[in-house]
Order: sequence, then structure tokens, then C-alpha cells
Amino acid sequence: MPAAPVPGLTPDPSAAPTGRTPGTLRVALLGCGVVGSQVARALVEHADDLAARAGARLELVGIAVRDASRPREGLGTVVPADLLTEDAERLVDAADLVVEVMGGIEPARGLILRAVAGGASVVTANKALLAAQGPELFEAADAAGVDLSFEAAVAGAIPIVRPVRESLAGDHVRRVLGIVNGTTNYVLDQMATHGLDLEEAVKEAQGLGYAEADPTADVEGFDAAAKAAILASLAFHTRVSIDQVAREGITGVTADDVAAAAQTGHVVKLLAIAEQTAEGVSARVHPALVPAAHPLAAVRGAFNAVFVEADGAGPLMFYGQGAGGRPTASAVLGDLVSAARDRLSGGKGPSESAYASLPVLPADAAVTRYQVRLVVADRPGVLAQVAGVLADHGVSIDTVRQTADEPAADGGAGTAQLLITTHAAREASLAATVAAVRDLEPVRQITSVLRVEGV
Ligand code: NDP
Ligand code: HSE
Repeated sequence: MPAAPVPGLTPDPSAAPTGRTPGTLRVALLGCGVVGSQVARALVEHADDLAARAGARLELVGIAVRDASRPREGLGTVVPADLLTEDAERLVDAADLVVEVMGGIEPARGLILRAVAGGASVVTANKALLAAQGPELFEAADAAGVDLSFEAAVAGAIPIVRPVRESLAGDHVRRVLGIVNGTTNYVLDQMATHGLDLEEAVKEAQGLGYAEADPTADVEGFDAAAKAAILASLAFHTRVSIDQVAREGITGVTADDVAAAAQTGHVVKLLAIAEQTAEGVSARVHPALVPAAHPLAAVRGAFNAVFVEADGAGPLMFYGQGAGGRPTASAVLGDLVSAARDRLSGGKGPSESAYASLPVLPADAAVTRYQVRLVVADRPGVLAQVAGVLADHGVSIDTVRQTADEPAADGGAGTAQLLITTHAAREASLAATVAAVRDLEPVRQITSVLRVEGV
């Protein structure tokens, strides 16, 4: 049944393609999985409120899936099953607004380009696509004069795209530090609070539906790297693609690392970091020690948080649910209402801003601190030898802690644990320092090397 027009808010019927109901905007939903099913339900269940807020009814005209015959419990009883279709192209062609929540590169990319070429505004949650092909999509949307919105692509429900792009448009963002992957935060949190090893914690995350059956994108940092690329592009008005993000996941983090972090007043977090320096901008993802007193240290379970440092505003923290159907659908629907308003007013939301076009720096140009744990022979001069290597590389030591192990059974020189925290230095110098220390004769083992952030 066609949706009723909203009195007084009916858009210009002459602007609507033939066959469309005045006062109604036709919404095509691409994908009906974790996120799409919740978007569909909300569009039907909250149709009246959404119409009042958008200025027109948002009529769900179809839901594209791979297999339309599969039963869909996520849709509940309110969404008519006959909205499901396997013909995504036809659906896109009939829409004023397209919501892309199918994920992946193709056919999502082709469908978004088709939608904007046909004059539809698009809302997407697809960070992988934006981080790889964003510029092409933004240019196409600009050329067509339509919106391409993506609040849900970074940190799920948390409003972070709009604040960085719009609220901070008059400020200068220097740094963005985020926990932007719920799965890995849950895993690291379980390791810290229950002493689980990585594999056990990942299994638990899968059982709770946080991690995919194949958790590679999360644990290897690809998901966070895509979000880091998007955040860096927004914050620094410069195109940064996922290929330019230095990435290290959490698979090298051991239960021992997490326990040792607690002993030095830190927690281990997978961080996405985007920074601007005098030389350019950088984006990286890696596990890091965060001081227990830093606001990001308090982000537990599958929650996300993004910490923004801006010249005028100072530090800002955005916190909330970074994944899950309903939280992510909340961000999608916010974008959808905005896109509908823009369409009705004849306006357009902000375009991509890449005017600064700053150099994107290589991974080894980043400036960070290291905490290195190593096992050395416990005899005179060893500490001085290790310290000498750091000095030779221009790396300054902040703190050193030494703990003697049990004496050797044969009465000879035993071993000692050294924990060295450096001052900030270039990643390249720090990495070279660790390599040189590893080669020293008295060094028995480098137990772990973790960066320290948020100091
Ligand atoms: P799901 O895998 O749960 O759902 C994907 C949906 O897209 C399915 O309904 C699937 O159809 C459909 N689909 C996939 N490929 C095609 C295709 N080629 N043609 C037609 N339909 C297709 O994904 P999610 O809902 O979890 O994620 C969707 C997007 O949202 C992704 O880009 C993801 O990165 C992003 N996102 C997800 C979050 C989350 O918490 N899940 C959080 C933030 C963003 P079928 O059901 O028939 O297989
Ligand atoms: N897999 C992602 C996470 C989903 O765990 O945060 C949200 O992007």
C-alpha cells in the first residue's frame, strides 16, 4: 500500500520520478543481515516518527539479498517477506534513497555508483569499501549532487563522523586515538580480567556473536585499519586509503603481555591512531600499552571509544557501542533522515574534504614510545651494554626495571628480566634499536615489544 503523504511536508511532486507517491521517498535496502534486518525493522516499526523527522515517509520498497528464499528471523513479523529480492540493480533504479549494508567491495561499489548516477542519495556502513575506494564514490556523489553518508562505517552507533567533519570544521584536529574494533577490545578485556589466552578469548567472542566465524579482519587489524583511514581522511582533509595505514593486529599479544601490562599500570588496547605532524599525516593500527588512568583504558568489553585532540576544543571523547545490529542501524537511520531532509530541501550534505592534501607518511616515520621486556644474562655490565645500544640509536630511556630470576642450578650466572620504557622516538629508530639489542651476546630473549600510547 502506498504510504500517505505528510501534510504540509509533501515534496515537490514534479521532482519525483513518475509513479512515485508525493510525500514519500522510496528507500532501497541492500543487505538484510545483522545491520540490514534492524534497519528494515526500524523503517517499518517507527515509520511515523521517521516521517515526521525526515519530512516525508521513508517507504521501504525492497531489500536486496543473495538468497531471497532463506527465512529471515531478524526481520521479525512486521517486515513483509515479499520485499526481499535478488535483483539489487532493479531495486536501486527505483529508489530515492539507497542504504548499502551488504558489505564487501563488489557488488556494493557498482550498486552505489549506479544509485548516485540515477540521482539517489546513499547511506553506507561499508568501511572496507570506503577505505579502499572512497574518493571514486565521493566524486561520483558530488557530480550527481547527492549525499553519500557513512556515520555507521566508523565505530557503529557512536557519532564520530559528523562531529569530526561538521562540529570540528572550525577547529584544527591534531590527533585521533580510537578503540574502533569491538571484537578485539572484548578479547583483550577478557584476557586482562579473566587471564584467558588469545585463542580462548576469540572463541568466547565468536560464541557471543562479536567475532565472525573467520575473525581475521578483526584480530589482524584490517577492520580497524579501514576505520583509521576514514578517520584520518576526515580529520586532516587529506585522502588516506587503507593501504597507507600501518597495521599490526593482536595475534602477537600474549596472556603474559597483558598480565605484565597490569603490573606496570597499563592495559593493552588495539588502537587506531591518526596524527598530523609538521611533516604530514599518518595512520596506524597496533596493540599498545595505555596508562590505566587514560580514558581509553576504561573502555571495556565490546565497546568502542574515540579520543580526539583538537587545538581549540582540547580533548574530546566519544564512547558507545561500535558494533551490533541495532546500534549500527541507529547510525544508518540518522544518516537516512538527514539524506531525506537534504533531498526535500534541494540541498546536499557536506562533500568529501580533501583540500589539504597533506603528505601521508610511511609507517616508520611515526613517533612513539616502546616498552621492551627482555631476558639477559645477570652479570656486571649487561645493563650498560643494553643502554649503550639505545644511546647509539638516539633513543632515550625513560625507565628501567630489573628483576633477578632464580640463580642458575650450576651456580653460574643466572638471568634477569629487564623492562625498559623509552621516551618518544621515531618508529624506525626504535625498531632498529630492538634489532640491535636482540643481537647482543648477553640477551637471551626479547620477550615482548609493545608501543606505549596516551601518555
Ligand atoms: P551480514 O553479513 O550480516 O549481512 C550482509 C547482507 O548482505 C546479507 O543479507 C546478504 O544476503 C547481503 N549480501 C551480501 N552480498 C550480497 C550480494 N552480492 N548481493 C545481494 N545481497 C548480498 O553483514 P552485516 O550486517 O554485519 O554488515 C553489513 C555492513 O555493515 C558491512 O559493510 C559491515 O562492515 C558494516 N558494519 C557492520 C557492523 C556490525 O556490527 N555487524 C557494524 C558497523 C558496520 P544473504 O542474507 O542472502 O546472505
Ligand atoms: N567487526 C567489527 C567490530 C564490527 O568488532 O567492531 C563493527 O565494525
